[in-house]
Amino acid sequence: MRIDIVSVVPDLMQSPLSHSILKRAQDKGILEVHLINLRDFSSKTYKQVDDYPYGGGAGMVMMCEPLSKCIEHLKEQRSYDEIIYMTPDGDQLKQKTANTLSLKTNLLIICGHYKGIDERIREKYVTMEISIGDYVLSGGELAAAVLVDTIGRLIPGVLSDETSALTDSFQDELLSPPIYTRPEDFQGMKVPEVLLSGNDKKIQDWRYEQSLERTKKRRPDLLDNNLE
Ligand code: ADE
Repeated sequence: MRIDIVSVVPDLMQSPLSHSILKRAQDKGILEVHLINLRDFSSKTYKQVDDYPYGGGAGMVMMCEPLSKCIEHLKEQRSYDEIIYMTPDGDQLKQKTANTLSLKTNLLIICGHYKGIDERIREKYVTMEISIGDYVLSGGELAAAVLVDTIGRLIPGVLSDETSALTDSFQDELLSPPIYTRPEDFQGMKVPEVLLSGNDKKIQDWRYEQSLERTKKRRPDLLDNNLE
């Protein structure tokens, strides 16, 4: 899979992409991530990419021209399965969306900065608008890093234990059960007996009950089947 990310501050994403699972995915050649600096497509002397909003108001708006030039340039080289705009008024990111996107070949992610991008770019090019939550970040970069992380770990062959992404919270619309490692006794707090029993059926049943219990208590909304 190839993911191209357009940003005015591409360096912001360098670190999250360069460690751990995402690094391994790139080293293995399963995932390619390219950061594109929008300023390279500005025709202004000072590489300006934003301007004042029509109708007044606080904040700047990312202009059509550099964005359009950049997107057209990228589209000439490959066709994108989705052109995604990271924005707090987008559809909230859910595991199901990540699962679907992890099967694509080419994704283009546009990060807004300042007040966001000119509406006409959204109308003309954007095929998906994604929010990572009901709060406003300074730009779409951290949100894009979250999106790439959640997609990247799902691409077949990225995780060494392929089943491990499938047992994540949310994959079966339930939260994960509690987990433990050594020692068996930590300051008098014991690991549940069943996990030491060696009885796989009992362990699976216990984990399922714990998942259900935890989901009922913490996220009853998930049990209403409203994971999008
Ligand atoms: N840009 C700013 N805030 C955002 C959010 N919550 N999700 C996605 N992109 C954003």
